[in-house]
Amino acid sequence: MIDVEKIRKDFPMLEKSMQSHPLVYFDNASTTFKPRCVMEEVDRYYKEINANSHRGDYDIAYNMDQELFHAREVIARFVGCEPNEVIFTSGTSMSLNMVAWGYGLKHLKKGDEILISEAEHASNVLPWGRICELTGAILRHVPLTSDGKVTVENVKKCMNDKVKIVSLAAVTNVLGNSIDIKGISEVVHSYGAIFSVDGAQSVPHTKTDFKGDGIDFLSFSGHKMMGPTGIGVLVGRYPLLEDMDPVLTGGGMNDKYDINGCVTYLEPPAKFEAGTLNLEGILGLRRAVEYIESIGISNIDEYVKSLKKYCVEELSKLDNVIVYNPDSDSGIVTFNVKDVFSQDEASYLNSKGIALRSGEHCDKTLAEFLGTPDTCRASFYVYNTKEEIDYLVEALKNGGNFLDAFFD
Ligand code: ALA
Repeated sequence: MIDVEKIRKDFPMLEKSMQSHPLVYFDNASTTFKPRCVMEEVDRYYKEINANSHRGDYDIAYNMDQELFHAREVIARFVGCEPNEVIFTSGTSMSLNMVAWGYGLKHLKKGDEILISEAEHASNVLPWGRICELTGAILRHVPLTSDGKVTVENVKKCMNDKVKIVSLAAVTNVLGNSIDIKGISEVVHSYGAIFSVDGAQSVPHTKTDFKGDGIDFLSFSGHKMMGPTGIGVLVGRYPLLEDMDPVLTGGGMNDKYDINGCVTYLEPPAKFEAGTLNLEGILGLRRAVEYIESIGISNIDEYVKSLKKYCVEELSKLDNVIVYNPDSDSGIVTFNVKDVFSQDEASYLNSKGIALRSGEHCDKTLAEFLGTPDTCRASFYVYNTKEEIDYLVEALKNGGNFLDAFFD
């Protein structure tokens, strides 16, 4: 069980009022609010540490190296990998691009296949498209079930010896459906292919077991799990990281180079961390992980799913609302008010102090499946409440009066 009233006190953004109403924030799949302890940790970097990593022979630089090593340990414990498998990036998009450009470009050739699904975020579609253009590999899509899921069975049907990489969201960002990671990884590996998981929507909510579930690459972002923006992680199985090419080269990642162009790189993870790292972001992310652990990731999971279930139950009582994912197993509810353009609806809700996302949600391949190019999306996190959902449902009763948002 979680004490949501206590948790809410940790978030300064929840003290804000919008349109004369306490802000109701339901866009957590886009980015979450940050607790005070994360802000203080970022501040602590500038007030007490403020040294670069792996570069200085003085005490504060040594302290930074220790902090960095500890951050890798905390993140490794959280997702079930080894500390030297944790690479710091700017976020999920960069992590997925590193897999595509560093691993895909090196290994794919004409006629090879990459498998994604019909419900992926742009960041797990477009990098693969570019790699296909350059290598002659082919991008294929696992079809969704009638309720929008990516199943082990459908992945199995798409597999053949030409498939070299399968890259899927653990939880899809529009419909919020989860995949059976372990089941899919067994299928993928039985064909000798590599399994890359987009964990942007799953790592903040559910227990991740990188090693136990047989994941080869895992990408996620700090800002969707109460950490700072601009920091993310790529976790890679160590032998794959040794083999993978760095996308960024420069200081901090090379072992030697000379005037004749002979270059050797450092071992992973340093090989993938050219330039000065986002150190305050890394410390903030470590603190966010510790904060999540103090609540308990399974408590968060259970609570957020209970909010989603409650929201779907309440919305099902309204004749004017269509819910597209009543059975998905995460904290995302995707809906439209009948005959109302989603962005008009979002503007109307904004006039009541409710913030949620509308439009295509960075997924432009789902329109055919949904039967509409755009939707409203409410996504919950640990500080949301049933009372806030009641307020949303009440507002949606009059959701057709969206012009009020513009003329009030
Ligand atoms: N990936 C984020 C979302 O789905 C931005 O909203």
